[in-house]
Amino acid sequence: LSAAAVPASAQSYPTRTITMIVPFAAGGPTDVISRIVTANMAPTLGQSIVIENVVGAGGTTATTRAARAANDGYTLVTGHMGTHAASVPLYPKLAYHPEKDFEPIALLAGTPILILARKDFPPKDLKEFVAYVKANAEKINAAHAGIGSVSHVSCELLNSILGVKPVGVPFNGTGPAMNALVAGQVDYMCDQIVNAVPQINAGTIKAYAIATPERNPSLPNVPTTAEAGLPDFQAQAWNAIFAPKGTSPAIIATLNAAVIKALDDETVRKRLLELGSVIPAPANRTPEALATLVKSEIAKWTPVLKPAS
Ligand code: MLT
Repeated sequence: LSAAAVPASAQSYPTRTITMIVPFAAGGPTDVISRIVTANMAPTLGQSIVIENVVGAGGTTATTRAARAANDGYTLVTGHMGTHAASVPLYPKLAYHPEKDFEPIALLAGTPILILARKDFPPKDLKEFVAYVKANAEKINAAHAGIGSVSHVSCELLNSILGVKPVGVPFNGTGPAMNALVAGQVDYMCDQIVNAVPQINAGTIKAYAIATPERNPSLPNVPTTAEAGLPDFQAQAWNAIFAPKGTSPAIIATLNAAVIKALDDETVRKRLLELGSVIPAPANRTPEALATLVKSEIAKWTPVLKPAS
C-alpha cells in the first residue's frame, strides 16, 4: 500500500497508549500470552500497550466492555476459545456476539489443555485418576475460571466423557486457580499449558496427560490422553486479539502486522515455545483466518454446551 493510499487518521495511528483488556486475572494464560506478545508490539507501534485485567463471568464481563469501547484502535481485547466461542451457547443473554461485534486482528497462540491435580492427589496416573474420580465424584472438586472459560469448558468435556459431576470451584482466572491447586486447596483442573509448565517443572502439581494427539516438546514426559488411556479427551484452546466492530481496515492491518512481527521475533517465539504454546503458522495469522476460526469454534461448541443454569 502506498503512503498516499492510507487515510491520514490511520497513518498517524497510534498516537497514544493502547489498552489491551485481558478478561482474566493477572498471571494466568491469557495474561501471560498477552504480555509476551504486546511487549514486542509496543516498540513496533511506537506506543505503550497497557494490559488491563478485567475479571468476571468467565471473561464475558471484560469482553462486553471491549465490544462497547470506541472503535478507534485504542481499546483491544485478548479473547479466547471461551470468550469468543463457548460463551455463545453458555450465555443465552450474552451482551455481545463474537462475530458481529468484533473485528478479528490476529491469532496469538494455540494452547493445549492438560489434566492437572494437586501434588498429593492420590491417583498416580490417568487410569487411576479416571477410576478415582468416578468413585469419589461427590467428594472432589475441580477448579475453573468461571462459566465459559477454557478451564470450565475443557473439564465439562472431560467430566462428560467420565460421566461425573464434581463440585466446580470458580476463580477469576486460572492464575489464582493454579495458586489454589499448588496450595492443595482444590483437587484438579483442566488448564492451558502456558499456566502449567512452570508448576509441572517445579514439581508443585501433578500432570496426568496432555489432551492433544502429540506430546508437547516443553513437557516431553507428560503422556498424551491417547497414550494414557483416554483418547476421547482432546482439547486445545487459543488466544487472539480482537478490536470493536467498525475499527478501520487500516488500523486492523497495522495491528495485524505488529502481531505477525512479534510472532516472528526470536525472543517472543522462545518464550511462547518454552511455555508449550503453539505458534500459529503464517497462513493462520490473518484477520480472515481468525474470523474462520471463531465461526468454526462457535459451530463446534454450540451443540456440545448447554446454557448455564
Ligand atoms: C486465564 O487466563 O485465566 C484463562 O485463560 C482462564 C480460562 O479460560 O480457563
